[in-house]
Amino acid sequence: MSSVSHNKPKVIIDCDPGIDDAIALVVANHFSEIIGITTVAGNVPLEFTTVNTQSICELLNLDVPIHSGASHAYSKQSVTAEHVHGDTGLGDLLLPKPENKIVSEHADNYLIDITKQENDLTLIALGPLTNIAHAIEKDPAFVSRIKSITLMGGSAYGLGNATASAEFNIFADPEAASIVFNSRAPIKMIGLNLTRQVQMGIEHAKILSENIGNRVSKSVSTLLYSYQNLISSSTGNITVPMHDPCAVLAVTHPEFFTFEKRNVIIELDGIYTRGMTVVDERKSSPPINCDVGYQADSENLISLIVDAASTKN
Ligand code: RIB
Ligand code: CA
Repeated sequence: MSSVSHNKPKVIIDCDPGIDDAIALVVANHFSEIIGITTVAGNVPLEFTTVNTQSICELLNLDVPIHSGASHAYSKQSVTAEHVHGDTGLGDLLLPKPENKIVSEHADNYLIDITKQENDLTLIALGPLTNIAHAIEKDPAFVSRIKSITLMGGSAYGLGNATASAEFNIFADPEAASIVFNSRAPIKMIGLNLTRQVQMGIEHAKILSENIGNRVSKSVSTLLYSYQNLISSSTGNITVPMHDPCAVLAVTHPEFFTFEKRNVIIELDGIYTRGMTVVDERKSSPPINCDVGYQADSENLISLIVDAASTKN
């Protein structure tokens, strides 16, 4: 395990819980200072991603402002992933109806305002980029007020999950992604080429439910079991990728990642490639607009996820 000391970075999290988003919130709560959370339609409709966020915050005793946001993509097309996250978005995890309230339904306005009030903020994006694109269109200077937009999305090497060539968060709102990648924002892209290196399995779920056994660890265990059952039925895999937790850990523990500067374009018109992140690997590529993640230290990252999930809040 690294001996690097870690100050807790101040983060805003935009998410679409979603099983891996929920685990990412547990990790972020342990290793970062969460200033606020915004929700977006993605894995499941907005009303579910929002109530799931509220429930996870109560599970974590995390009292931070929650603002809901976009219910639809720019194209108005609706792409969801109940086959991966279950009908509610949290698999088999049943949490009490939350008592906390959302502060507003205008995530874009919150993103604009909070970045005027707080310095040194990192925006971690774990879902479709609709809220962030709306904020950029309303206030282009928004991108100059944040340390980075570290996003789980896309992929190098043309890997896809929503389609053969497109990753879900980008595919769900390609127009939003194009606005973000063309905004000159300081982007770190954590794509499928990286997140598929970090896989957790039943043995981790057992450790969390049997060896640790507190409310948070048992909840994360249930999320892992659900994720594995849902994914294995379509992929046959017995382990599950930690997509969104990788984006959080890229902010809190960058020493466990390698990045390369690249030009990334979002394909909007391809019949078979709409939503693809076209990562230019040529040395003489067009202007750089993104740091793309390539390598992850899976063993250390999984250990950090288990540590965060094991800590009683
Ligand atoms: O492709 C994986 C990404 O899409 C993750 O963020 C998952 O939660 C879904 O939003
Ligand atoms: Ca997500």
